[in-house]
Amino acid sequence: MTPELLGFQIAHRAMRGEARRLAVLATELAEGRQSADTTRATAITGFITALCAGIHHHHTMEDEVLWPVIERSAGAVVDLRELSDDHSALDPLLAEINGQAVMFSSTRDASALATSLTRLAEMLDAHIEEEERLIFPIITAYVSVSDWKRVEDAARKGTDVRVDLPRFEVYARPEELVRLRKLAGPALTVMLSLFRGGYRRRCRLVFGPLVDA
Ligand SMILES: [Fe+2]
Repeated sequence: MTPELLGFQIAHRAMRGEARRLAVLATELAEGRQSADTTRATAITGFITALCAGIHHHHTMEDEVLWPVIERSAGAVVDLRELSDDHSALDPLLAEINGQAVMFSSTRDASALATSLTRLAEMLDAHIEEEERLIFPIITAYVSVSDWKRVEDAARKGTDVRVDLPRFEVYARPEELVRLRKLAGPALTVMLSLFRGGYRRRCRLVFGPLVDA
C-alpha cells in the first residue's frame, strides 16, 4: 500500500485553476470588459478571500505537518528549503490580495487585483509544478499510509466541505471522479448532491452566467 495522492493533486489543480480564473476575471473587470454590481462585487471579494485563506491553510499544513513527515521518512533524500521559501514569498502576496479584494468591493477598481492575481497564478503554477515533481515520488516511496492519513486529515481541517467537495468535482477528470467515488463511498454522492447547487450558483455569480462552475 502506498499513499493515495489523488486528493492532493486535485486540490493543487483547483488552487491553480481558481487563481487563473480570478486573474482573468480581474483583468476583464479592470479593462471594462466585465462589470460588477454590488452583489457580484461582494461575491467576487468573498471568493478571492476564501481562495487566499485556502492557499494559506494548505501551505501552513505543508510546512507544519507534511514537511516534518517527509523529513522523518526520507531524511536527506530531499531538500525542502526552496519550497518553504516559495511559501514565505506567497504569504505577503496573499495578504496584499486580501486587502485589494476588500478595496475592490467598495471602489470597483480591479486593476491592482488584476496584477496581483496574475502574479499569484504564475507563482502557484511554478511552485506546484516543482512541488509535485520533487516530493510526489518521495511521498510514494518513503511515507507510510498512516502518516499520509495524518497529512490528509490536517489538510481537511479548517476547510469547508460544502465548498471543497463541489470544487473537487469541477477540477477532477472523469476517471479521477470514478476513483474518488470508489475511495469515498456512497457518502460522496450524497454530499455532492447537497452542496453542488450552492457552489455552482456562487461560481455563476462570480464568473458570469455563461460559466458553469
Ligand atoms: Fe506548497
